[in-house]
Amino acid sequence: MDKPASTRSRPAPAVGVESILDRFATVRAETLRLTAPLSAEDQVVQSMPDASPAKWHLAHTSWFFETFVLLPHAPGYTAYSEELQFLFNSYYEALGERRERGARGLVTRPGLEEVLAYRRHVNTAVLALGARAQGRVESIIEVGLAHEEQHGELILTDVLHLFAQTPRRPAYADLPLPPSRSPGEMGKLAFEGGLVEIGRDAEASSFGFDNEGPRHRVLLQPFRLADRLVTNAEWLQFMDGGGYGRAELWLADGWARVQAEGWKAPLYWEAIDGAWFVMTLSGLRPLDLLAPVVHVSLYEADAYARWAGARLPTEAEWEHAAGDIPVEGNLRDSGWLQPAAAGGPKGRLRQMFGDVWEWTASAYAPYPGFKPAAGAVGEYNGKFMVSQAVLRGGSCLTPARHIRPTYRNFFQPWHRWQFTGVRLAWDAEPRVISLDSSHQQRDAFLADVVDGLSKAQKTLSSKWLYDEEGSRLFEAITELPEYYPTRTELAILREAAPDIAAEIDPGAALVEFGSGASVKTRIVLNAAPQLAVYVPVDISLERLQAAAAEIRRDYPHLRVEPLAGDFTAGLHLPEAAAGRPRTGFFPGSTIGNFTEEGAVGFLRSAASVLGEGAYLLVGIDLVKPEPVLLAAYDDAQGVTAEFNRNLLARANRELGADFDLEGFAHRAVWNPALRRIEMHLESLRPQTVRMDGRVYRFEKGETLHTENSHKFTVDGFSGLAARAGWRQDRVWTDAGRLFAVVLLKR
Ligand code: SAH
Ligand code: AVI
Repeated sequence: MDKPASTRSRPAPAVGVESILDRFATVRAETLRLTAPLSAEDQVVQSMPDASPAKWHLAHTSWFFETFVLLPHAPGYTAYSEELQFLFNSYYEALGERRERGARGLVTRPGLEEVLAYRRHVNTAVLALGARAQGRVESIIEVGLAHEEQHGELILTDVLHLFAQTPRRPAYADLPLPPSRSPGEMGKLAFEGGLVEIGRDAEASSFGFDNEGPRHRVLLQPFRLADRLVTNAEWLQFMDGGGYGRAELWLADGWARVQAEGWKAPLYWEAIDGAWFVMTLSGLRPLDLLAPVVHVSLYEADAYARWAGARLPTEAEWEHAAGDIPVEGNLRDSGWLQPAAAGGPKGRLRQMFGDVWEWTASAYAPYPGFKPAAGAVGEYNGKFMVSQAVLRGGSCLTPARHIRPTYRNFFQPWHRWQFTGVRLAWDAEPRVISLDSSHQQRDAFLADVVDGLSKAQKTLSSKWLYDEEGSRLFEAITELPEYYPTRTELAILREAAPDIAAEIDPGAALVEFGSGASVKTRIVLNAAPQLAVYVPVDISLERLQAAAAEIRRDYPHLRVEPLAGDFTAGLHLPEAAAGRPRTGFFPGSTIGNFTEEGAVGFLRSAASVLGEGAYLLVGIDLVKPEPVLLAAYDDAQGVTAEFNRNLLARANRELGADFDLEGFAHRAVWNPALRRIEMHLESLRPQTVRMDGRVYRFEKGETLHTENSHKFTVDGFSGLAARAGWRQDRVWTDAGRLFAVVLLKR
């Protein structure tokens, strides 16, 4: 801990000494001020072995400075008293015998006056030494101040414990009440994880304890973290659900504790005439249901998480998530000295700092490469690295300047007298399920291109238009002034949403075919919050992944289970959709990209995937005058042309073909007999293309047919759907009858 000067960047000695001594004076005075509301008796008695009387904290923090600053560094300094050296050593074996911990409350002499005199003596000596020492003692004083601040927090937690045993339930002080506000539903924020760095950088210029380093890499699986702490209201649900009586929720040691100590609620909760009260630093108060639960052990936190279908975060997850968020919150500086209901905007991490120390699932263990400081001060943190759990984030009793993202607090798992609470975490939703491996996809693409280029009319399925770049270009198309379908369908869906939502059962799964950016989906999700599962299916893997992540982020209560692959290939829905009512969603008139037989075949397989009684909502583009259609498929900016030609670029990228992109032009033609727009790539000259050891010849004017986009009449579409066993339930169209949304039912 007393690091060589070369490993820490320090301000120039004179300034450094001055500021550290100023801080020394401030922090020491603050500790003393914390005891001001206490009577002399309040400061002597102790209520359990882990808590200490305030008088002991005042003396022990002085002992720390005497032992680690004055005795080694102040020339000629001798201990104020051998007796105090013995009495107020906490746990330093290297410094010899000391008073047994549990007996700290049995020391009535030295009295408070004597302890205060000791304190003053040490203060004077440290200030005198510091002024002379020119920076040599700065780093150990810094440790002493951090230690002092920890004991400041303990003075408060320990006196609360004492007062909770005192029949009058006295108040430490008449404190202002934090605002009672609704924290809102708990949100889940998703993190990608991966190889991340945590821990304190040895080069950091600000102070940190030895246990916070070395900075090192950890591998995090994708995870989600609650955007706020668990509240008292939520804890009551756990209690009402029999949480304290269900062995299956508890770790074995925790269950043993529950039974041995008869736990039925968090520490300090008292039921009075059927209402819950809780002991606080301002005495016994009615339980604030909106505030975070506090004074729970790791065992309780863990059982609660299991009951809630969640888990506790690891400390690495916590620290990675805390990342760069500002260190602010309900810390001691707020003056409330009790946890407060979460405020601030949702969708961001709230309450990460302050309110309660958050239990993590991580055992308190050394980071890779950790070495305790040499000498007795090395006993500060290192020797406790077994059988304890890490807590993060500070509490409402922690001074703001004391806490930081890398800070590792630790307690044994049964302790409840500290201000400890719960933030939930979850594993990420399962990743995208790929129907094919990327190898299989490439092989299928190659086979299709080989097959398609060998035909008299060269043809390729439009599904190959959608690699990552193709999906991006399609989205650009939807924004074009000429491409009316997307904005028309969006408007229809907004109108129809309440009617659609009324047909969706609670807990249902929404299965979307060709989901792309999942934009239209949001209209349905917003109108039908009863949807529990969303299965987007798309061949465009990257697009699907990104869209699924965005939906997960914005709809934290929805299970999102993406399927990557060809939706004509026979789908197996993920487990999450099993046994649920299902609604299919096939917007965009993507159904128009099939041939008529293809569309009937698709609707039949959708019927079997969705099951009896299901609904299927389909968007269809309606027949309209040719110029409107041609403009929509051959826009002035040439985006559709680029979308079409990207198919050749993709074949070059993925299959090693040598298409000359400049040698092909985009063509959109209306085929009146088949009522479809066809996209072609027309060869501008005679040319050959090589791919996979084969040569393909294009005459001048010869085309590669890349897409059909059929246009429908509502009746024509109903007939087609009927052939696949669907009946038309409802139809919505826009005033211009450009587009229709049809609700089919089985
Ligand atoms: N539903 C969106 C996107 C339509 S674009 C909308 O209405 O705006 C068509 C989408 O279907 C693309 O995302 C494309 O990748 C996907 N798609 C096309 N053919 C597919 C197939 N055979 N299997 C799975 N997805 C396909
Ligand atoms: C996705 N599909 C319905 C679009 C359509 O209109 O046929 C694809 C598209 N092709 C050219 N422009 C847009």
